[in-house]
Amino acid sequence: MKDNIALIGFMGSGKTTVGKVLAKLMDMKFVDIDKIIAASEKKSIAEIFEEKGQIYFRDLEREIIAQEALKNNCVISTGGGSILDNENIKRLKETSFVVYLDCTIECLYQRLKNSTTRPILNIAEDKRKIIEELYEKRRFLYEISADFTVKIDETTNIFDTVYIIKDAYILS
Ligand code: S3P
Repeated sequence: MKDNIALIGFMGSGKTTVGKVLAKLMDMKFVDIDKIIAASEKKSIAEIFEEKGQIYFRDLEREIIAQEALKNNCVISTGGGSILDNENIKRLKETSFVVYLDCTIECLYQRLKNSTTRPILNIAEDKRKIIEELYEKRRFLYEISADFTVKIDETTNIFDTVYIIKDAYILS
Protein backbone atom coordinates (compact mmCIF):
# COMPACT_ATOMS: atom_id res chain seq x y z
CA MET A 1 0.00 0.00 0.00
CA LYS A 2 1.38 3.42 -0.95
CA ASP A 3 1.75 6.18 1.67
CA ASN A 4 -0.83 8.57 0.21
CA ILE A 5 -3.92 8.72 -1.95
CA ALA A 6 -3.79 11.31 -4.78
CA LEU A 7 -6.96 12.40 -6.54
CA ILE A 8 -6.78 13.45 -10.18
CA GLY A 9 -9.55 14.52 -12.54
CA PHE A 10 -11.07 17.36 -14.47
CA MET A 11 -12.08 20.64 -12.81
CA GLY A 12 -15.42 20.05 -11.09
CA SER A 13 -14.97 16.29 -10.75
CA GLY A 14 -15.09 16.64 -6.96
CA LYS A 15 -11.45 16.14 -5.96
CA THR A 16 -11.65 18.59 -3.05
CA THR A 17 -15.05 17.50 -1.77
CA VAL A 18 -14.31 13.78 -2.06
CA GLY A 19 -10.78 14.29 -0.73
CA LYS A 20 -11.95 15.98 2.47
CA VAL A 21 -14.48 13.25 3.29
CA LEU A 22 -12.05 10.48 2.35
CA ALA A 23 -9.30 11.97 4.53
CA LYS A 24 -11.67 12.13 7.49
CA LEU A 25 -12.85 8.56 7.00
CA MET A 26 -9.31 7.21 6.63
CA ASP A 27 -7.87 9.38 9.39
CA MET A 28 -5.44 10.91 6.90
CA LYS A 29 -4.44 14.54 6.38
CA PHE A 30 -6.14 16.44 3.54
CA VAL A 31 -3.75 18.32 1.25
CA ASP A 32 -5.06 20.66 -1.45
CA ILE A 33 -2.33 21.55 -3.96
CA ASP A 34 -4.15 24.63 -5.32
CA LYS A 35 -4.67 25.92 -1.80
CA ILE A 36 -0.96 25.60 -1.00
CA ILE A 37 -0.05 27.37 -4.26
CA ALA A 38 -2.47 30.21 -3.49
CA ALA A 39 -1.17 30.53 0.08
CA SER A 40 2.45 30.54 -1.04
CA GLU A 41 1.76 33.43 -3.43
CA LYS A 42 -0.82 35.13 -1.19
CA LYS A 43 -3.06 35.33 -4.26
CA SER A 44 -6.00 33.41 -5.67
CA ILE A 45 -5.36 30.95 -8.52
CA ALA A 46 -7.18 33.34 -10.87
CA GLU A 47 -4.91 36.22 -9.80
CA ILE A 48 -1.77 34.10 -10.31
CA PHE A 49 -2.91 33.23 -13.84
CA GLU A 50 -3.81 36.82 -14.59
CA GLU A 51 -0.73 38.48 -13.14
CA LYS A 52 2.01 35.89 -13.74
CA GLY A 53 0.61 33.61 -16.43
CA GLN A 54 -0.03 29.90 -16.78
CA ILE A 55 3.62 28.85 -17.17
CA TYR A 56 4.47 30.46 -13.83
CA PHE A 57 1.50 28.67 -12.25
CA ARG A 58 2.55 25.30 -13.73
CA ASP A 59 6.11 25.74 -12.41
CA LEU A 60 4.76 26.38 -8.93
CA GLU A 61 2.36 23.46 -9.24
CA ARG A 62 5.27 21.16 -10.13
CA GLU A 63 7.31 22.37 -7.13
CA ILE A 64 4.46 21.98 -4.67
CA ILE A 65 3.48 18.52 -5.92
CA ALA A 66 7.10 17.36 -5.61
CA GLN A 67 7.17 18.66 -2.04
CA GLU A 68 3.78 17.33 -0.91
CA ALA A 69 4.13 13.91 -2.56
CA LEU A 70 7.00 13.19 -0.16
CA LYS A 71 4.72 13.35 2.87
CA ASN A 72 2.78 10.39 4.14
CA ASN A 73 -0.69 9.52 5.35
CA CYS A 74 -2.20 12.24 3.14
CA VAL A 75 -5.09 12.50 0.71
CA ILE A 76 -3.75 14.85 -1.97
CA SER A 77 -6.20 16.78 -4.12
CA THR A 78 -4.47 17.95 -7.31
CA GLY A 79 -5.46 20.65 -9.82
CA GLY A 80 -7.16 19.41 -12.99
CA GLY A 81 -4.18 20.29 -15.17
CA SER A 82 -1.51 18.60 -13.08
CA ILE A 83 -1.50 15.51 -15.34
CA LEU A 84 -0.23 17.70 -18.21
CA ASP A 85 3.24 17.39 -16.71
CA ASN A 86 4.89 13.94 -16.67
CA GLU A 87 7.04 14.93 -13.74
CA ASN A 88 3.92 15.44 -11.59
CA ILE A 89 2.57 12.01 -12.40
CA LYS A 90 5.92 10.41 -11.76
CA ARG A 91 6.23 12.09 -8.36
CA LEU A 92 2.69 11.27 -7.33
CA LYS A 93 2.91 7.65 -8.42
CA GLU A 94 6.11 7.11 -6.42
CA THR A 95 4.32 7.67 -3.13
CA SER A 96 0.60 7.69 -3.81
CA PHE A 97 -2.25 5.50 -4.96
CA VAL A 98 -3.51 7.66 -7.85
CA VAL A 99 -7.29 7.77 -8.23
CA TYR A 100 -9.05 9.27 -11.25
CA LEU A 101 -12.47 10.78 -10.55
CA ASP A 102 -14.02 10.12 -13.94
CA CYS A 103 -17.00 12.47 -14.07
CA THR A 104 -19.33 12.67 -17.09
CA ILE A 105 -19.16 15.75 -19.30
CA GLU A 106 -22.76 16.67 -18.50
CA CYS A 107 -22.11 16.51 -14.77
CA LEU A 108 -18.92 18.59 -15.18
CA TYR A 109 -20.79 21.18 -17.22
CA GLN A 110 -23.58 21.50 -14.67
CA ARG A 111 -21.03 21.99 -11.89
CA LEU A 112 -18.79 24.38 -13.82
CA LYS A 113 -21.18 26.51 -15.83
CA ASN A 114 -21.44 29.22 -13.16
CA SER A 115 -17.92 28.90 -11.76
CA THR A 116 -15.85 32.09 -11.88
CA THR A 117 -12.78 30.76 -10.09
CA ARG A 118 -11.31 28.70 -12.98
CA PRO A 119 -9.19 31.03 -15.14
CA ILE A 120 -8.91 28.46 -17.93
CA LEU A 121 -12.68 28.44 -18.38
CA ASN A 122 -13.21 32.15 -17.85
CA ILE A 123 -11.52 33.08 -21.11
CA ALA A 124 -14.11 31.18 -23.13
CA GLU A 125 -17.50 32.53 -24.14
CA ASP A 126 -18.85 29.07 -24.83
CA LYS A 127 -18.14 27.17 -21.63
CA ARG A 128 -19.59 23.87 -22.80
CA LYS A 129 -17.35 23.91 -25.87
CA ILE A 130 -14.15 24.61 -23.93
CA ILE A 131 -15.03 21.95 -21.34
CA GLU A 132 -15.65 19.40 -24.10
CA GLU A 133 -12.42 20.27 -25.92
CA LEU A 134 -10.25 20.19 -22.81
CA TYR A 135 -11.93 17.00 -21.59
CA GLU A 136 -11.20 15.25 -24.89
CA LYS A 137 -7.57 16.41 -24.80
CA ARG A 138 -6.99 15.35 -21.22
CA ARG A 139 -9.08 12.20 -20.81
CA PHE A 140 -6.34 9.90 -22.03
CA LEU A 141 -3.80 11.45 -19.65
CA TYR A 142 -6.08 10.92 -16.65
CA GLU A 143 -6.69 7.33 -17.72
CA ILE A 144 -3.06 6.36 -18.15
CA SER A 145 -1.98 8.15 -14.97
CA ALA A 146 -4.45 6.40 -12.70
CA ASP A 147 -3.96 3.31 -10.55
CA PHE A 148 -7.72 3.23 -10.04
CA THR A 149 -10.73 4.94 -11.66
CA VAL A 150 -14.06 5.73 -10.08
CA LYS A 151 -17.01 6.78 -12.26
CA ILE A 152 -19.11 9.76 -11.23
CA ASP A 153 -22.31 11.28 -12.61
CA GLU A 154 -25.14 13.48 -11.36
CA THR A 155 -26.69 10.60 -9.42
CA THR A 156 -23.53 9.47 -7.61
CA ASN A 157 -23.56 9.62 -3.84
CA ILE A 158 -20.32 11.03 -2.42
CA PHE A 159 -20.19 8.41 0.35
CA ASP A 160 -20.38 5.59 -2.21
CA THR A 161 -17.44 7.18 -4.03
CA VAL A 162 -15.44 7.53 -0.85
CA TYR A 163 -16.03 3.92 0.25
CA ILE A 164 -15.16 2.59 -3.22
CA ILE A 165 -11.82 4.46 -3.06
CA LYS A 166 -11.15 3.32 0.50
CA ASP A 167 -11.69 -0.35 -0.42
CA ALA A 168 -9.52 -0.07 -3.54
CA TYR A 169 -6.72 1.57 -1.56
CA ILE A 170 -6.78 -1.04 1.17
CA LEU A 171 -6.65 -3.83 -1.42
CA SER A 172 -3.83 -2.15 -3.37
C1 S3P B 1 -6.81 23.86 -13.63
C2 S3P B 1 -7.59 23.36 -12.61
C3 S3P B 1 -7.77 24.08 -11.34
C4 S3P B 1 -6.54 24.95 -11.04
C5 S3P B 1 -6.24 25.85 -12.20
C6 S3P B 1 -5.96 25.08 -13.49
C7 S3P B 1 -6.74 23.10 -14.91
O1 S3P B 1 -7.96 23.16 -10.27
O2 S3P B 1 -5.43 24.16 -10.74
O3 S3P B 1 -7.33 26.72 -12.36
O4 S3P B 1 -5.86 23.38 -15.74
O5 S3P B 1 -7.58 22.18 -15.10
P1 S3P B 1 -9.35 22.34 -10.05
O6 S3P B 1 -9.26 21.10 -10.87
O7 S3P B 1 -9.32 22.02 -8.59
O8 S3P B 1 -10.48 23.22 -10.42
